[in-house]
Amino acid sequence: MTRLSMPPLLDTRATGRLSLTAMAGSRRFSDGPAVATAGFNQGYLGPTIIVQNGDLATEVTNRLDEPVSAHWHGLLVPGEHDGGPHLAIAPGATWRPEMVIAQDPATAWYHTHIHERTAAQVYSGLAGVIHVADGRDDQRGLPAEYGVDDLTLVLQDRRFDAAGRMVYDPSMMDIMHGFAGNRMLVNGQAGATAVVPEGIVRLRLLNGSNARIYTLFFDDTRLMHLVATDGGYLPAPLALDVLRLAPGERAEILVDFAAGGAPVLLSDPGQPYGVLQFEKDPTQTARIMRLPDQLDGAPEDLSGNEIRTRQVSLDMGIGGMMMGGGGFAINGRPFDMNRVDFEVALGSVERWHVRSTMVAHPFHVHGVRFRVVSENGGPPRPEDTGWKDTVLVPGEAEILTRFDQPASRETPLMFHCHILEHEDAGMMGQFTVT
Ligand code: C2O
Ligand code: CU
Ligand code: CU
Repeated sequence: MTRLSMPPLLDTRATGRLSLTAMAGSRRFSDGPAVATAGFNQGYLGPTIIVQNGDLATEVTNRLDEPVSAHWHGLLVPGEHDGGPHLAIAPGATWRPEMVIAQDPATAWYHTHIHERTAAQVYSGLAGVIHVADGRDDQRGLPAEYGVDDLTLVLQDRRFDAAGRMVYDPSMMDIMHGFAGNRMLVNGQAGATAVVPEGIVRLRLLNGSNARIYTLFFDDTRLMHLVATDGGYLPAPLALDVLRLAPGERAEILVDFAAGGAPVLLSDPGQPYGVLQFEKDPTQTARIMRLPDQLDGAPEDLSGNEIRTRQVSLDMGIGGMMMGGGGFAINGRPFDMNRVDFEVALGSVERWHVRSTMVAHPFHVHGVRFRVVSENGGPPRPEDTGWKDTVLVPGEAEILTRFDQPASRETPLMFHCHILEHEDAGMMGQFTVT
């Protein structure tokens, strides 16, 4: 058995400083030959960064031979610190945003975001997890010991060729549907087993895949108790037997391993495949033995405060793919770095009516957390009832959000489909907040 390991921890709480370096790596995934990869501070993926509210003096150095960026997906920071496509870091250069963290505890993440290169660069490994911590999880009765009863799990599918080499060679069809793999990696490891104590364990799940949507469940039907969504805690744990997780989304769940055997986390009830094997360590005493009844998350009801409604249609550009028009678009227009799509008033609440065409697109907005008020005309799925920054839109969804982070024309904020091939092909727009 190979024991699953956690990404190394990078705790910024004592210093208020964060230093990342994008670098090239080379890695063997299980039995295959080594392939070229990339990562932050290591050869594949990046450390798990712990931040707390307050100043965070950040530096990101690029030691790769192409531009990269460091986008903080889920951190509520202004456009100039957001790390989107306008904030490319040239090879050899260092970007130094003086950030201020001011938000509720949450599991966020970071990844490169260069227009037309995001899919390939994230696939190669330029991504990692962020914990926004406030040091009060003991009071909440939540497991919080990193790698022991608080596991960070980066779910990624990757494609391996017959020689066992990890490949990224999207065809036209892969771009249409998003690039899917034939093997699961968790924290960059294939076929590893997560060892857990016999009690309550917290799993912080990140769907860091380019395109795959997971519908997670345990083979022995044990429940998953959802305690946090993208933007923070729920008011109380929500028991689920399946959990849907689209690219870019995070979910924190509590799982009780006191009873039963060694379960497997699977995806897709219709045609199940394995995501992660668990095994219990009977010598390890669990710190937490019961679920908390309540949490202090309070997703705010923003309804009635909106000052305007916008339509966001996730679609194809005029002429579509066949005309070589770049293919994917929002409201019929493919992404253009030089065009501001929406101008939003700072501090205002807006209702966005988002519609997917062709396939279900996971819709993400930078610099905000939002509430999902409806999905296909009905109430949102349980997974979507908390604070979100990314939501799968099977048909239509309405979101309400307040725009509290300023963004200028030089560094606007993005909204896009988080299927990275769609994003790169033009399913992205940008907005200012002034
Ligand atoms: Cu995960 Cu535009 O971001
Ligand atoms: Cu983002
Ligand atoms: Cu899409």
